[in-house]
Amino acid sequence: MKRRVARSNLGNIVKFFVDTAEIKEILELAETGLLDGVTTNPSLIAKSGRDFIEVISEICAATPGPVSAEVSATDTDGMIAEGTKLAALADNVVVKLPLTMDGLRACSHFTKVGVKTNVTLCFTANQALLAAKVGATYISPFVGRLDDINLDGMDLIAQIRRIYDNFGFDTQILSASIRSANHVTEAALAGSDVATIPPSVIHQLIAHPLTTSGLDKFVADWKLTGQSIL
Ligand code: E4P
Repeated sequence: MKRRVARSNLGNIVKFFVDTAEIKEILELAETGLLDGVTTNPSLIAKSGRDFIEVISEICAATPGPVSAEVSATDTDGMIAEGTKLAALADNVVVKLPLTMDGLRACSHFTKVGVKTNVTLCFTANQALLAAKVGATYISPFVGRLDDINLDGMDLIAQIRRIYDNFGFDTQILSASIRSANHVTEAALAGSDVATIPPSVIHQLIAHPLTTSGLDKFVADWKLTGQSIL
């Protein structure tokens, strides 16, 4: 017999987070109304060349959605100290923790004190199960990095979806390491709650050559009418 199938997010739309630490890109996307949140990581912060605390504070002020800020410590006490400082920066900070024994312990602590967490660097369904058991708000399976080593990142999303639904876990699946527009479609089909997407891929989602050529023709034909709507 099938176990409990109770998805708290059933009926919700798939959420789009942007995977960047560049404030200009975030502001531009926020204006479209498409942006539900932001994820950053130490590599993106290094690429921005900016002060981490300043960048996170700015991003949090620019968007009301959840903003993942990753700890740099690798031991539980260090992660708790850093995560507590990050969480105090703004109400929408989500503390991002690596999927290690220390990270899971820190996640358990933040669950108890009511701080939202994103457990990152997830590459197996078992890791996702552990994160859900310690109350992670989000689990970040890295789709693209699995594809890079000739595994199927989307299979992992589908497996986690089934496991979470079987047991009614509330942890949201945040498909990460998204590299293409196709990844976004597949993540949505597999039942991912969120996809965190690089800005370049968000632009790919919007653009289609038939949209461009179709609009060019409409604009040209409209000119021929000599009319003006306003
Ligand atoms: C998201 O949280 C991750 O930091 C990010 O998606 C990793 O993407 P990458 O594998 O392209 O570096």
